[in-house]
Amino acid sequence: MLAQLREEAARLEGVSLQELMAADPARAVDFALRVGPLYANFARQHYDREALTTLFGIAHEADLPGAMQRLVDGEIVNATEGRAALHTALRGEVSGAPAAMEAQAAAQAALLQMDALVHQLRDDPAITDVVSIGVGGSDLGPRLAVDALATSDVPLRVHFVSNVDAAAIHRTLAGLDPAHTAGIMISKTFGTQETLLNGGILRDWLANDARLYAVSANVEKAVVFGIAPGHILPMWDWVGGRYSLWSAVGFPVALAIGMPAFRELLAGAAEFDRHAVEAPIERNLAVWHALTAVWNRNALGATTQAVLPYDERLRLLPAYLQQLVMESLGKRVQHDGQDVTFDTVPVWWGGIGSDVQHSFFQALHQGTQIVPADFIGIVKPDHDQPASHAALMSNLLAQCEALANGQGSVDPHRRHPGGRPSTLMLLDALTPTSLGHLLALYEHSAYLQAVLWGINAFDQFGVELGKQLANGLLPVLRGEEAADDPITRVLVEEINARR
Ligand code: F6P
Repeated sequence: MLAQLREEAARLEGVSLQELMAADPARAVDFALRVGPLYANFARQHYDREALTTLFGIAHEADLPGAMQRLVDGEIVNATEGRAALHTALRGEVSGAPAAMEAQAAAQAALLQMDALVHQLRDDPAITDVVSIGVGGSDLGPRLAVDALATSDVPLRVHFVSNVDAAAIHRTLAGLDPAHTAGIMISKTFGTQETLLNGGILRDWLANDARLYAVSANVEKAVVFGIAPGHILPMWDWVGGRYSLWSAVGFPVALAIGMPAFRELLAGAAEFDRHAVEAPIERNLAVWHALTAVWNRNALGATTQAVLPYDERLRLLPAYLQQLVMESLGKRVQHDGQDVTFDTVPVWWGGIGSDVQHSFFQALHQGTQIVPADFIGIVKPDHDQPASHAALMSNLLAQCEALANGQGSVDPHRRHPGGRPSTLMLLDALTPTSLGHLLALYEHSAYLQAVLWGINAFDQFGVELGKQLANGLLPVLRGEEAADDPITRVLVEEINARR
């Protein structure tokens, strides 16, 4: 794969993005795809039809359609942990394979259980607020979906606490009344330090176990913590944390937007799943997105990837995608344990337009690094300020154009080099259905990138060492033991001398 990519990159080396676009104006239409409410235009990526043919050839060689089928059928795609990754089974019937059918049945039963608890809480006039505690995949997905979709007239306000820094939970609880608040602890393992500490603080503050709920694959531990079995919604080994929004981890979302809207979110993702499984490589949006990512990383050598939603409601998307993509693809060995001989995931980062135009966009326009960007816009706003929306959209379109085309000038300081690639994605409106499409696209793109790189998208051993060391340092901070590491020892002395 790498040799083919390098050959194409070498062929295009002296050809600017501006020249590619001028030589083939029809790419504006031909390099675009639509899946339901989601439109994506790749015309401003630094490749041409010939390079795309090579990329599609790579996708065929890697059998991306077969890989999609194996995913949704529930095959063991997470080999290091011997697990399937059946998040698609949580949102629809995309496969008739036995493992997928079994998972779908379990997911349907859990949805009914969740439906009952959602009604219980939404219909209880004493409850006005819900505090959801979790971290990583047990926080970022529901936090994003609630922030994106909840309206101000919701019957329940949902708050999220993730950080082990107690300042976070104190800040949240300060505005709330324990008599009118319910708590949810979301943790697949029910062993995560942050969640257990924050959960303990919340449990004490509530002083009422009857209003404490949990979502976990470890029911026993949740019960020992003091949560009634009837208040515990299930999770399973076959759902990875960062792919779990669609499971009962979405409980806070359903509380905020209601069960019918939560089901629309699932249905939107399921519609995209069907596209990702069924569409031919050349018209498959998940495949295009994954191939573009690999092209930018391995052919053009991009070290970072920006994600730039032009919509206030999607302000948490960059943080969500950082976990989804970097925890999935931040790997340096292939399935067989051999070191990769190429770069894998770049740094994903971003922020919302138009704010970011007034911060880091200078570097995107004139800095020395070329940063590929995913721009995301919403065609129909949910407010009645047409002038504001027109300004937002004109800024979005202008930035994509300026980054790609640049502008000549006799003054080198004022010259915009252009040639900075981007993909523009447009959602018709921001709804549960369209958000489901968008997130499913990124999930499948991440998985397909992993297939192309021969790495496992579903484990995350890299986060374990730091957790282990942190546990070992608790007695050191208490002064009961000395740190093994000489630098940590000095740092602990420094901290303890000033506490
Ligand atoms: O940060 C590591 C991680 O293992 C994530 O993969 C996961 O989403 C998060 O911790 C939370 O884990 P749990 O749901 O078990 O509390």
